[in-house]
Amino acid sequence: MEEKKKASAIVNDPKKVFGRSPDQHILNVVKESCQEAFNLPSFNTTLQTIKSHFFDRNYDAVFQNPEHLPVYSARYAPSRALCYYHLFMEHPVLMKTLEGPSTILCIGSGAGSELVGISAAMVHANPAVKVKKAKKVATKTVKDEAEEMAKHDTKDTNGATDDTTATTTLGMETLTVSTESTQNPASPTTASETTPAPAAPETKTKTKKAKVNKHKVTIVMQDYVDWSPILRPMEAVVRSRMLLGPERLQCETEVGNVLDLSDGLLERVAKADLITFMFVLNELFQDKKRTMLLVAKIVAAMPSGAHMLVVDSAGSFSNLKVGERTYMVYMLLDHLKSLEIVYQDDATWYRCPPSLTYPLKLENMRHFVRIYKKL
Ligand SMILES: C[S@@+](CC[C@H](N)C(=O)[O-])C[C@H]1O[C@@H](n2cnc3c(N)ncnc32)[C@H](O)[C@@H]1O
Repeated sequence: MEEKKKASAIVNDPKKVFGRSPDQHILNVVKESCQEAFNLPSFNTTLQTIKSHFFDRNYDAVFQNPEHLPVYSARYAPSRALCYYHLFMEHPVLMKTLEGPSTILCIGSGAGSELVGISAAMVHANPAVKVKKAKKVATKTVKDEAEEMAKHDTKDTNGATDDTTATTTLGMETLTVSTESTQNPASPTTASETTPAPAAPETKTKTKKAKVNKHKVTIVMQDYVDWSPILRPMEAVVRSRMLLGPERLQCETEVGNVLDLSDGLLERVAKADLITFMFVLNELFQDKKRTMLLVAKIVAAMPSGAHMLVVDSAGSFSNLKVGERTYMVYMLLDHLKSLEIVYQDDATWYRCPPSLTYPLKLENMRHFVRIYKKL
């Protein structure tokens, strides 16, 4: 009986959680979280302002104005959350991370798309069932991923890495960075927070802490803007609508410019099982030099066996000009010797099913996908 209770605290029944349509349920979660934004009389004008800043690629103007944030989330988080949910579901190597215990560090994730999409995928990640059995997708690449995962199941999570140098060559530009040379004292611009778990399905089991934590997934939402007025209510809705209690999901936020490369960030990287860059890398590449350094430092700090997931626009927004030549941003990562490409797709669509309902038109997303493993 006690065992049963314990199991039900960490194992969700997707049908019970989602009802008939996981996609619609995900949209309902975003809608409920963003209700205040929809009530804003200035919603449409703010959205137009955001769009015009995007058109000018003035990302700071989009995100550094707190009034933009709720509107941004309401408009962009729903289709992204759906896209990320399906992305995780398609890749056993990502689903494996969701069985826990694990830490997922999401760079530039304040808007909440990662929180909702990954949490929804967690509902399917039954810690008691082997991922191989749970997956039905049979594309060759995904099968390869599962094999790769099985081979490397005994991951070194010590956080230590002897790979202190990351080198990449792109055209005429060569970048060689040693992690030892730029270890700074902790950046004063970085702030971390572990949110106390809001009302959520609770377990009364007196299981030992170590056992309870066995399936805990920690999602660290890193961003250079304080999105807590959006993330806090969103986390509460996620917990209650997806039945994810604190024994299963821990949410943390980290505020700071990722390009500052604080010690705190690199410590987070060294402990992460998965690092995500979802629709943020091409923005960061506005500052090419610092972003190349960031990439090299992050890759060097990743523990061996950890994964990196990169998703971004498959169009010209992800172009990277080096000298006279133009590359896609993922090409920089593809060339790194200490990263193995586990999955790659240079252009794919996530199309929102027309049957779904949401207060705004949902956007189909053409994007590239890369999953890397640190060697
Ligand atoms: C286009 S949004 C993508 C948001 C989210 N990843 C998603 O998929 O919906 C880019 C995000 O990156 C954040 N960001 C931009 N530059 C950053 C930086 N230098 N350091 C940390 N976060 C940054 C922004 O605040 C914003 O939340």
